[in-house]
Amino acid sequence: MLGKVLITKPVFPEAMEFLKSQVSIDANLEDRVLSRQELIAGLQGKQGAVTLLTDIIDRDVLESIPDVRIICNIAVGYNNVDIEHASRLGILVTNTPGVLTETTADFAWTLLMAAARRIVEGDSFARSGQWKAWGLQMLLGNDVFGKTLGIVGFGRIGQAVARRAMGFSMNIQYYDSQPVPPEAVPPGVHVVTLDQLLSTSDFISVHVPLMPETTHLLNDRTFAMMKSNCVVVNTARGPVVDEKALARALESGKIAAAGLDVFEREPQIEPALLGLQNVVLAPHIASASRETRLKMCMMAAENLVAGLKGERPPNLVNPEGLGNRRR
Ligand code: DGY
Repeated sequence: MLGKVLITKPVFPEAMEFLKSQVSIDANLEDRVLSRQELIAGLQGKQGAVTLLTDIIDRDVLESIPDVRIICNIAVGYNNVDIEHASRLGILVTNTPGVLTETTADFAWTLLMAAARRIVEGDSFARSGQWKAWGLQMLLGNDVFGKTLGIVGFGRIGQAVARRAMGFSMNIQYYDSQPVPPEAVPPGVHVVTLDQLLSTSDFISVHVPLMPETTHLLNDRTFAMMKSNCVVVNTARGPVVDEKALARALESGKIAAAGLDVFEREPQIEPALLGLQNVVLAPHIASASRETRLKMCMMAAENLVAGLKGERPPNLVNPEGLGNRRR
């Protein structure tokens, strides 16, 4: 066996089987997030961890797990781990990029369409018994076809969202704080400044990682710049959007609608949003297709095994940690 490993929440049986053949496992089999104390206790004497984005692995936790050599997050995002400190301690951290790109882009589009065409309101209305006759002006939404889509963050998922927009003959523009290689930009998609994107888009979809610079990127000031018909979609990380400011913008009609898969304090949702009809809410399920979640688990398991074998894990996010990696 390559070492002892903590799995913080139930994973797919296929991943469990693979891991069992390679490492000795201690797994939380309950569908609940381990407390900080349980996490620290569970990681004593363990060389590896398979974690989820709900496991907060901050500086203090990292300081308390002297045997851990590798942390494998089952997510593309890794803002739940203090990467800088992990590198300092020589702990490798991995993520699961690529396998969830298309599934997440599908879901960003699901929210975009649902918010634009008021499908959730329509569903409630249809079930309520209040629908008496076809109505010319009943539940009017916004057209998607031919409109302007602004993509904030043009990485893998942003690009996949853009590809789908082509089928809707949209005018597609993006903003990214980093230069995007020309071969990643499909023909007809153009780069704009953030201010241009905010003030000219009919739909805005957010695909940036959570970092100090992206926290509350959408706020009172930026909502004030948007068009009144604008629909905002967030499948990235909750704190990228100031939820209170979003609720004010939706309530006052400053923007038309929103679709959210992620929230500032998950699983809590800003109460001001809960009472609004023009926001579609989902419980962080953008990557939740069976196929994709299985691939994410397998990828994390493969990263773990490679790391414990002393190899460079395929999806290492902190190569800075390699120099002083724990053995
Ligand atoms: C991620 O991978 O970061 C998502 O938020 C969950 O799939």
